[in-house]
Amino acid sequence: MAKAIRYFELNSGAKIPSIGLGTWKAAPNVVGDAITAAIIAGYRHIDCAQRYGNEKEIGDTLKKLFDEGVVKREELWITSKLWCSDHAPEDVAPALTRTLNDLQLDYIDLYLMHWPVSMKKGSVTFEPENLTKVDVPSTWEAMEKLCDAKKARAIGVSNFSCKKLADLLDTARIPPAVNQVECHLSWQQPKLHSFCKSKGIHLSGYSPLGSTGKSTLKYEVLKNPILNLVAEKLGKTPAQVAVRWGLQMGHSVLPKSTNENRIKENFDVFDWCIPEELCAKFPEIEQVRLITGSSFVHETFGSYKTIEEIWDGDV
Ligand code: A2P
Repeated sequence: MAKAIRYFELNSGAKIPSIGLGTWKAAPNVVGDAITAAIIAGYRHIDCAQRYGNEKEIGDTLKKLFDEGVVKREELWITSKLWCSDHAPEDVAPALTRTLNDLQLDYIDLYLMHWPVSMKKGSVTFEPENLTKVDVPSTWEAMEKLCDAKKARAIGVSNFSCKKLADLLDTARIPPAVNQVECHLSWQQPKLHSFCKSKGIHLSGYSPLGSTGKSTLKYEVLKNPILNLVAEKLGKTPAQVAVRWGLQMGHSVLPKSTNENRIKENFDVFDWCIPEELCAKFPEIEQVRLITGSSFVHETFGSYKTIEEIWDGDV
């Protein structure tokens, strides 16, 4: 029996739309058209970040859509993220203000700490010397104040391991509502999924189609033979099955596309489902983390000497 999965409820009580348009690597000159196409297709959730360098263009498009009455602000869920160079407590509120100004919004639905990584204020490149020691509790406390001020309706984190979430839960006054992480059929994250579920933290999956954001894909999730077999059996595309799998696992899913047809295709997943016997094939898929955070690893600088230290052994 097909089951619509249109929203998930967060520990804050808010309902997050289950599919969001990803905007990482959506170039500023095309992101506006992508957002317009997505809203017309029915998307109500846009996943942004200051680091993506396109929030101004997204803001211009949102304003136009509001002015033209295509959609109302309160019908949309907008996420953005605090970049690593704004982790000092005094920089957190100004960073959100910058994002809100760019997006031309009064509040954000969800504000995430982009990585458990800290960089020198003002640094834009990934030079190792820009890495500094991360202090998650201090940054989080400043994010909690954004919630108190109602500038952020919910707060959360991104790229956090089970251990880093557990540490944060030990000190947080407001528990994170969401952990947004890489999640797709080739990186299913069962351990993190169970941990988040046990703590009431919603898992949101980025790169659900396996994009690394790099032009040369080492490992192409959408070409996986098991995924293609299931897609063929269901008469759906591999991308649709990849998105639908995330929904059935209880994740919100953030497929990125700037192509109108693919934007529609990725949203056409609510009136059918992957039956259990076909889902049972997915654990056989070889697992590989595509976004490793290797730029944040250094012998001398920052908080992590190895990739392992970022992810604390989560597989
Ligand atoms: P495009 O923007 O040209 O559609 P992810 O969501 O995992 O980050 O993946 C995004 C990548 O997948 C982009 O290169 C995007 O290209 C491509 N993509 C998005 N939707 C589909 C689809 N339905 N089929 C194939 N590729 C897609």
